[in-house]
Amino acid sequence: MQNRKRTQRTRLLFLLLCSAFCFGFAGVQQPSFAESKTGEKTESKSGQAENSRYEFRAEHDRNGIGKFYMGREIAHVMGHPAAIWLERPEREKEEKLSLLIKLLDLKPGMIVADIGAGSGVLTLQMAPLVAPGGKVIAVDIQKEMLVRLQNRLSRTGIKNVELHLGEANSPKLKPNSVDLVLMVDVYHEFEFPYEMILNISRALKPGGRIALVEYRMEDPRVPIKLLHKMSEKQSIKEMTQPAFSLKHVETIEKLPRQHLMIFMRK
Ligand SMILES: C[S@@+](CC[C@H](N)C(=O)[O-])C[C@H]1O[C@@H](n2cnc3c(N)ncnc32)[C@H](O)[C@@H]1O
Repeated sequence: MQNRKRTQRTRLLFLLLCSAFCFGFAGVQQPSFAESKTGEKTESKSGQAENSRYEFRAEHDRNGIGKFYMGREIAHVMGHPAAIWLERPEREKEEKLSLLIKLLDLKPGMIVADIGAGSGVLTLQMAPLVAPGGKVIAVDIQKEMLVRLQNRLSRTGIKNVELHLGEANSPKLKPNSVDLVLMVDVYHEFEFPYEMILNISRALKPGGRIALVEYRMEDPRVPIKLLHKMSEKQSIKEMTQPAFSLKHVETIEKLPRQHLMIFMRK
C-alpha cells in the first residue's frame, strides 16, 4: 500500500516537472503583452522591442499620459465633449483651414483618409473636392465623434464620406488603398504612434502622401499647451524611421500656427 502511494507521488512529480519544462523553462514562445497606462493590453510577438520603444514615467506633465516615445510625452486624447471647440467659427481665422485644404492639392477621384477626423471639420471641406469618383474615409477611435459627424453629414448633400472606427494602434485601412492621409492636430495624442504610422504607411499607395499638421513647438507665441505642439525636427525624426518607408518631401510654412509637413511613401 505504502509502495503504491509512493509510486503515485513520484508519477505526479514527474508530470509536474514535464509541464514546467515544456511551458516555462524550455522557452516555449508565449505571446507577450505591452501594457499601456490606460490598462489596455496589446498583443505583440516582439514584446521586448515594444517595451523598449515606450517608456513610462511616474513624474510627467499633467496634460500627458506618462508614456514617452522618442523623448516626447504623449498627450491625452481630446474627449468628444470638446467637439464644439473644433467647430468654433474663429478657427478659420486662427488656422486658415481653407488655405490648408488648398495646399493639399486634392483632385477628383482621390481616396483620402482623415485620421483623427473628430467631428469632421476637415472631412466636410475635402469631400466635395475629391468628387466625382473619390471619397474621404473619416477615421476616429471615438464613436461619439463619428456619430456627430454622421449628424452633420445628414444636413448636407455630401455622399462620398465613409465613417470608420479605428483602434488605438491601427486605423484598420486596406493596404495600398489611400492616396492621401491627413492628420490635423492628432498625431501628438496617438497612444501607439509607432504602430499607427506603420499601419498608415501600409495603407498608402506607393507614392501616396501623408499631410501632418501640428502646432509649431518652435514658436512660443502659439497659444497651445506644450504637449499639443510638435517641432519639425522631432516630427521628421519620428516619421522617417526605416520600417515606415516614408520620406519627408517638404514642410510648408504658410499656416499661421501649424507646420504642414508632407511625407511620401517610397
Ligand atoms: C484634437 S482632435 C482633432 C480632430 C480633427 N482632426 C480636427 O482638426 O478638427 C483629435 C482626434 O483624434 C482622435 N484620435 C486620437 N487617437 C486616435 C487614433 N489612434 N486613431 C484615430 N483617431 C484618433 C481623437 O478621438 C480626436 O477625435
